[in-house]
Formats: sequence, C-alpha cells, structure tokens
Amino acid sequence: QATSIPADRVPDMSKRKTLNLLLLGALSLPTAGMLVPYGSFLVPPGSGSSTGGTVAKDAVGNDVVATEWLKTHAPGDRTLTQGLKGDPTYLVVEKDRTLATFAINAVCTHLGCVVPFNQAENKFICPCHGSQYNDQGRVVRGPAPLSLALAHCDVGVEDGKVVFVPWVETDFRTGDAPWWS
Ligand code: FES
Repeated sequence: QATSIPADRVPDMSKRKTLNLLLLGALSLPTAGMLVPYGSFLVPPGSGSSTGGTVAKDAVGNDVVATEWLKTHAPGDRTLTQGLKGDPTYLVVEKDRTLATFAINAVCTHLGCVVPFNQAENKFICPCHGSQYNDQGRVVRGPAPLSLALAHCDVGVEDGKVVFVPWVETDFRTGDAPWWS
C-alpha cells in the first residue's frame, strides 16, 4: 500500500516542477537574456576600450550594430540591451531615425526592478510600485527618488557597433550631478 502513494505522486510532482519551471521561465524572460551573456563580461575584465566603453549586446548576446538596429527599431523605440556592468539598458531611437547619444539604465531607482517602457503612454512605468519616468528616464512620479541612470551611447567608427561609455557629466534632464557615478 505504502508504495502506491509515491508511485502516484511522482508524476504529479514532476508535472508541478515542470509547471513551476515554465512559470519561472516566463516571468524571468525579460531578464534571462541579460543574465546569460553576463558571464562573458567577467571573463575579460576591463577588456573594453581604453575609454571604458562596453559594446551593447542584444537580447541573445550579440553585439549591437547601429545600422542593423535601426532597420528593425522604429522612431520612438526603446529596447533593452545589456549595458555597462551588465545592467539592462535602453537604446533610444530618436524621431529622426537615429540612435540617441544617451542610453537609459532600466534599473528602477526605488528598489531595483527592471522598468518596462510603455509605448502608449510614452513613459517608463515600474510594475513594482508604480514609479514613472518620462521617455528620457527622468522621474515624474514616485516612490522612485531619482531619475534612471544615463550612459553615453556611441557608435564605433570602424565597426559601427554601439558602445556604452559611463556618463559622468551633468544629467541634462535635471541639471544635477549624476547620482550614479
Ligand atoms: Fe520601481 Fe519600486 S522598484 S517603483
């Protein structure tokens, strides 16, 4: 008798586990792409250029080439890439179909959730506690205390790759010194 109980439960348990894994996978989809290539940044520390730049990586870990990106991302688009220190970072496509020279760090300044861009509202709206940022990442509603961090977004002259460089200058959105550097 006793053996029939685990025999019954084994498939049930494994089904549950599978379900949990699927759920987890679905929930972490936006960040999974960021985590997988993260390790590659740890292998060659400081392998970026002498300016401290880091090549942007797309969701599957490939280097982002500006011209290719602009073919598939419309004006007004904000899409996540892997940025400095592996942080999820938005590339910004301007209305004139060029890449903005700034990129927006997606980590909410409240408690660190990754903030999605809401195209309809043209704002970044944090799903965790409702903080809002305008389309340049300037905070417009709390509880987030600060605007989203910036990075310079450059395009390599030779290879056309998108390169992030730490933003240490005044925050052009607020006129303040950057809190993140
Ligand atoms: Fe974004 Fe709290 S973590 S509002």
